Amino acid sequence: MTLSCLFSNSILLFSYSMRLDKYIASVTDYSRSEVKILLRSGRVTVDDQLQRDAGYKVKEDTVVCLNGERLRNAGHRYIMLNKPLGYVSATKDKEHLTVIELLDEDNSDQLHIAGRLDIDTTGLVLITDDGQWSHRVTSPQRDCNKVYLLETVDPITEDMIARIELGVELNNEKNPTRPAKMVLVDEHTARLTISEGKYHQVKRMLAAVGNKVDVLHREQIGDIVLDEELQPGEYRHLTEQEVASL
Ligand code: URA
Repeated sequence: MTLSCLFSNSILLFSYSMRLDKYIASVTDYSRSEVKILLRSGRVTVDDQLQRDAGYKVKEDTVVCLNGERLRNAGHRYIMLNKPLGYVSATKDKEHLTVIELLDEDNSDQLHIAGRLDIDTTGLVLITDDGQWSHRVTSPQRDCNKVYLLETVDPITEDMIARIELGVELNNEKNPTRPAKMVLVDEHTARLTISEGKYHQVKRMLAAVGNKVDVLHREQIGDIVLDEELQPGEYRHLTEQEVASL
C-alpha cells in the first residue's frame, strides 16, 4: 500500500485508544522503530501540537499529522466516479471497458459498484469495498433517492409528468413504480428523482408514458452529489461526511 493512498479520504476506523507509534505504523509503511525516529525528529503533530512521545494515546477523533499531512486509517474505500459513455458498470466484462478499469487503485478486484448505470448512461457511480454500505445504497427498503437528468425524443407533457409522479406500471413488474418527482427543465429535458433502482427504470418509466429517453445522466444518490470538478472518467474518494450520509 502506498502512502499517497493512505492519505486519501477514507474513514478513521478505531474506537479504542492506541499508542501513537503503533497507530502511525498501522496506517503507513513505516516500522515501529522508523516511527520512533520520525517522532524524535519532530515530524509528527497530534491535534496541532508537536508530539514526540511514542506512548501517547491516540483516540478515535485524534488528528495525527506526519510532515504536515493528516494520517487516516485506510479502512474501507468509498469512491465517486463520473461514468463516461460506453463503459459498463461491472467489475469484469469480455466485450466492454468497465468503470473499475478507470480506477488507479491497489487491489481494485476488491471493489464493487453500489448501483449500476447502463452503458449509455453517464454520471455518478459509487464504488466501494464495503458490502454493508453498498447495501444501504441499493436496498429497496432504504428509500435512497437518485436524481437523473434526462432528455427525451418527444416533448415532455404535463400529463406525462403527472403519471410518472403518481407511479406507472412497468412490464414484468408486480407493483407500479413508487411516487417520484419530475421537474421540467425545458420541453425535452427534465430532472427525475426516484427512490427505486429497477432494471432500466428511468427508460422504462418514460416508455410507459409514451416517450423515449435519449440522454440519461445521474447527478445524485442520497445526499451525495456528483462533484462538478470531475470530468467524465475521473473519480475521487468520498469525504467522511459523504460516507456517513448514507
Ligand atoms: N434508469 C435507467 O433506465 N438506466 C440507468 O442507467 C439508470 C436508471
